[in-house]
Amino acid sequence: MAKRIQFARTGGSEVLELVDVTPADPASGEVRVRNEAIGLNFIDIYFRTGLYPAPGLPSGLGTEGAGVVDAVGEGVSHLKEGDRVAYAQGPLGAYAEYHVLPAEKVVVLPNSVDAETAAASMLKGLTVQYLLRQTAPLKGGETILWHAAAGGVGSIACQWARALGVKLIGTVSSEEKAKLAKANGAWETIDYTREDVVERVRELTNGEMCDVVYDSVGKDTWITSLDCLKPRSLMVSFGNASGPVEGVNLGILNQKGSLFVTRPSLNGYADTRERLEMMCRDLFDMLGSGKVKVDIGQRFALADAGKAQDALAGRQTTGSTILLP
Ligand SMILES: NC(=O)c1ccc[n+]([C@@H]2O[C@H](COP(=O)([O-])OP(=O)(O)OC[C@H]3O[C@@H](n4cnc5c(N)ncnc54)[C@H](OP(=O)(O)O)[C@@H]3O)[C@@H](O)[C@H]2O)c1
Repeated sequence: MAKRIQFARTGGSEVLELVDVTPADPASGEVRVRNEAIGLNFIDIYFRTGLYPAPGLPSGLGTEGAGVVDAVGEGVSHLKEGDRVAYAQGPLGAYAEYHVLPAEKVVVLPNSVDAETAAASMLKGLTVQYLLRQTAPLKGGETILWHAAAGGVGSIACQWARALGVKLIGTVSSEEKAKLAKANGAWETIDYTREDVVERVRELTNGEMCDVVYDSVGKDTWITSLDCLKPRSLMVSFGNASGPVEGVNLGILNQKGSLFVTRPSLNGYADTRERLEMMCRDLFDMLGSGKVKVDIGQRFALADAGKAQDALAGRQTTGSTILLP
């Protein structure tokens, strides 16, 4: 038997239960991974609350982890038992000692990346990869606004932006988070609990505003984010930490300066094996070179997944959070 977290109904963190299961054998094209570390992500909360529907209930949770291949299904050629691996996509169920998933979603880790670092950075780092290198192919010299700059995705974004020569203005909710974002390479920070974000962006950019705004907060920041953009520039709405952006009248993009808007996802960018491998190479290069160092701000036991999610939703975490089986 092995432990996994599951939920039989949507709701608060109390719906998460630790149960004993017999790990499934991998079917054709699948592998079973013995997790050494599991990544905690905001999307896990969207599934738990029902904002994103799980395919069925009861359901496992989580899509990110790292460990060792423990069993290999038929027809899998790029992985073998004992390989050190990581993944950031696939079926829900990573909050577990063992996870079975399609082999095409699993990549072998370079020696330079340990399991905890991988679990803390696969989903978040690949997200930063596509946001900074593909959604807006930044060249250096741009000014961008990034909400939640001291969070999991944000901490990686600050470092990656610095490496690209991009001026990242990060929003944060406290002095401690501001210090962290600055230490990670944010050019400037704005504490939105006591500063007017649009006015500060105007001051910092001498009235020019930003080339791209990256907004994962959603509902609460939508209008502010549009107001921080240069005419004809790009709004990237990639998350819903405060709730989803709904009921948008497209005319607002005209009023705010002929803006572009996109709502991307990791699955929409890492949608083929080739693209996943390309994005992983870029991420592992950044980690291997030391240009991006993954800050694991919190570690929780797998059994405490609910507490970990409450800390993430309650803005009490910084950097990445991992669960340890
Ligand atoms: N589309 C994609 O491909 C993709 C992939 C990965 C992640 N994401 C999104 O990226 C965001 C960051 O994910 P993460 O796992 O790294 O989380 P995180 O940034 O570590 O945590 C969320 C942070 O958002 C800020 N926040 C602002 N308003 C909030 C609210 N009402 N409730 C909770 N937090 C609020 C808080 O920072 P402050 O206290 O500084 O405000 C909080 O610490 C999430 O929205 C997630 O859905 C999207």
